[in-house]
Amino acid sequence: MAGLFSILRAYRSYRIRRRFGLSSSVALGDVVIQGRGLTIGNDTYFNSGRIASTGEAPVRIGKWCAIGYNVTILAVTHDLNFPTGPEHLRPLKKGAVTIGDGVWVGSNAMVLPGVTIGDFAVIGANTVVRKDVPAFAVVVGNPAEVVLMKDPERCREHVTFVRQH
Ligand SMILES: CC(C)(COP(=O)(O)OP(=O)(O)OC[C@H]1O[C@@H](n2cnc3c(N)ncnc32)[C@H](O)[C@@H]1OP(=O)(O)O)[C@@H](O)C(=O)NCCC(=O)NCCS
Repeated sequence: MAGLFSILRAYRSYRIRRRFGLSSSVALGDVVIQGRGLTIGNDTYFNSGRIASTGEAPVRIGKWCAIGYNVTILAVTHDLNFPTGPEHLRPLKKGAVTIGDGVWVGSNAMVLPGVTIGDFAVIGANTVVRKDVPAFAVVVGNPAEVVLMKDPERCREHVTFVRQH
């Protein structure tokens, strides 16, 4: 049975890669994609979670990112003043989400519409990101707060590797 599930997962991942033209080096686990407008850079893995995007509000994820379990990335969500009702009356809140290169997103994190996360940032487990995160920042909590800026000297090898590949 476990074998069947892994075959189904692999097939779903293949279909998503084909639909969005993603490289075969992109590894997708149990990721549900709603909508259009998704790009993921080479050698990024996304263990599990959900992405909601549209052509007008795309989600762009850079290369060599590590995205944990149960991560939600929303470029589209409800409008606070008309969140329920028939679809043709219900406006959506939309904002492109951009995640840079070499970013690590911890499990259960949530990224809300309009956010840009800079290269090499780290998003702690369970973090809710509603504002832009600077490159090299480590953010945790709800709402996300910068608790640390990575030491350029200590992450130099990682940065060089990601930039070169
Ligand atoms: C953010 C993270 C990378 C920091 O790791 P670290 O450098 O070892 O940091 P520490 O554990 O020493 O924590 C530093 C401080 O931040 C706090 N902190 C760390 N992670 C936190 C989180 N996710 N939420 C809230 N606070 C957090 C700690 O309580 C600590 O606070 P203190 O200094 O007041 O005691 C790590 O805690 C994390 O969330 N990793 C994600 C793991 C994951 O989901 N992996 C999935 C597989 S890809």
